[in-house]
Amino acid sequence: MRSKDTWITVDQDEGYEVVCFMADVGQEEDFDAAKEKALKIGASKCYVEDLRREFIEQLCYPAIACNAIYENVYLLGTSLARPVIARAQIAVAQKENCFAVSHGCTGKGNDQVRFELAFYALQPSIKVLAPWRDQVFYDRFKGRNDLLDYASEKGIPVTSTKSKPWSMDENLAHCSYEAGILEDPNTTPPEDMWKLTTDPSKAPNEPEDFTITFKEGLPVKLEHSGGKKTATDSVDLFLTANAIARKHGIGRIDIVENRFIGLKSRGCYETPGLTMLRSAHVDLEGLVMDREVRALRDQFVTFAYAKILYNGLYFSPEREFLEDSITSSQKSVNGSVRCRAYKGMMTVLGRWSDTEKLYDESESSMDEIGDFAPSDTTGFISVQAIRLKKFGKAKEEAGNS
Ligand code: ARG
Ligand code: SIN
Repeated sequence: MRSKDTWITVDQDEGYEVVCFMADVGQEEDFDAAKEKALKIGASKCYVEDLRREFIEQLCYPAIACNAIYENVYLLGTSLARPVIARAQIAVAQKENCFAVSHGCTGKGNDQVRFELAFYALQPSIKVLAPWRDQVFYDRFKGRNDLLDYASEKGIPVTSTKSKPWSMDENLAHCSYEAGILEDPNTTPPEDMWKLTTDPSKAPNEPEDFTITFKEGLPVKLEHSGGKKTATDSVDLFLTANAIARKHGIGRIDIVENRFIGLKSRGCYETPGLTMLRSAHVDLEGLVMDREVRALRDQFVTFAYAKILYNGLYFSPEREFLEDSITSSQKSVNGSVRCRAYKGMMTVLGRWSDTEKLYDESESSMDEIGDFAPSDTTGFISVQAIRLKKFGKAKEEAGNS
């Protein structure tokens, strides 16, 4: 018997009212059709919330500002969308006085952790229904065919996934492909799998040049060199970056990553605009950021922020703490980067800052002395060498004995 505290499966079959919630985080989706489907199969209401701006401004932009990256390659496209989705879902649940929320994540992935930790942090009293982890659910549905039978019995329209034998998650920043035929890590993804970017080998033969301007580490302007449209609004800027990167095939990766729960998983991700914005940001920091702030940030903040996002700990004191330090580290990150998109790559053509003066051309020049006294470095090198000479001497003695 299941008591009210230990149940997981509660749905409209058991007489509960179900309110449907869908997030628009920029995925390609027929929201009207989805709404119609939800209402047709019994939801009392269906909310579709447009979260694109908050997704970009509150999640993607801080990720750019700290160059967030997981295991050296993954730009966290799925992880970044989860906090805004969970927050909007809880807001609807509160408005509708729901005592429980649900999600359709499997029991092996990261998303279940991300959604549920967010739900509990945002509303500690909430109950979470996770059908994929519910004994009653998997006793009843042994596999795909049982689910398909249930869908046809209840008149739930489902689209066959035979032509796309993998699982996808899409938003404005990225699209992920996992599972199915991709589970063999040595299977090359079929060319028609990628939906957000052109195959780099088929990308235009003409490069495209543009300039990205940052203010305190955040992108504020994207200008085409050809005098085309200039984007300054965050959503517009992000979409413009996406359009350039998509056309030139920028942002595809294929990795085997470590999931939070300890399993390894193969994933193929395409992250067009975010890849370029992050690269331009990394470049500008070279010109305008203090060396030691940068080193500390790289070592502690970037790594920790990516881990927090990946592991679903966005609504936590540690994320708030790190975000303050990201803001503080970015005060000097003001300037512009001239970029070129071409055949799967973004290269930097040049950069400048009108306000930051850490880089002094004549001071750094190999062609003039300026205020710099070359003899000073003789002492600098001698002091640095004290320890290394001892090390070298010990090696010498060990070798001689
Ligand atoms: N492995 C990636 C991550 O954990 C992508 C997850 C994709 N999620 C999905 N429901 N298809 O961030
Ligand atoms: C899922 O399990 O629903 C998708 C994969 C993941 O969350 O990592």
